[in-house]
Amino acid sequence: MKANERIIVALDFDDRENALSLVDNLGDWAAKYKVGYRLLTGAGFEILDELVSRGKWVFCDMKLHDIPTTVSGAVRNLAAKKIGSISLHVSGGSAMLKAAAQAIQNLVHRPQLWGITVLTSLDDFTVQNELLVNSSAQEFAVHLARIARFCGCDGVVASGNEVERIKESCGEDFIVAVPGVRPSWSEQHDQKRTITPQEAIKLGADFIIVGRAIAEADEPLSAFLRILDEIT
Ligand code: C5P
Repeated sequence: MKANERIIVALDFDDRENALSLVDNLGDWAAKYKVGYRLLTGAGFEILDELVSRGKWVFCDMKLHDIPTTVSGAVRNLAAKKIGSISLHVSGGSAMLKAAAQAIQNLVHRPQLWGITVLTSLDDFTVQNELLVNSSAQEFAVHLARIARFCGCDGVVASGNEVERIKESCGEDFIVAVPGVRPSWSEQHDQKRTITPQEAIKLGADFIIVGRAIAEADEPLSAFLRILDEIT
């Protein structure tokens, strides 16, 4: 994989115009984009078709979490859009994950299923005192990654601090995409378990997901190229 394909740019905008203006700005340098429900609710699902028609690989970050029938139906509908991957919360349970995997298993254009482990905006305190999980965020993320693997997911979204443990536990071929990526020169925002692009790749992340460090930079393309340089 080329280094630029390891960077997934998060299109966290409210409308189509701002999202596509960033896509235009980054041109051929950026090959992979993440579309979450902020943009989907603002621009509609057609934004997925638009990006795919421009030759972009799209991670649809739906973070699905519902009963198995509902999630498998949504996954099947999204798969028809020929996107690259779809996220779903591992905490939705093994029946939900297996139903989703089964719903798309025979498709020619099968999107990958990426499990959401523990949001990078949560820290140990929140995991233990609000979710009442009796372990650290890292332990919990590794546990959820194992469930995701067992249920047929292709990978997980997890913080950089968990990559090594997840790879050890689930195997090198199990994809780990890392958000909460903050180059040393950018702001921390609301992320708590952050990591620099270089560290994330060094630890074995297959992809880094970068939003505001690029989107809110004065010159997004320069920010993208700086990150590319750091991971190459
Ligand atoms: O702007 P920033 O780089 O923090 O954006 C990170 C992106 O990754 C956001 O779109 C956020 O929804 C997403 N994400 C995350 N933590 C996860 C999964 C996805 O921050 N565990």
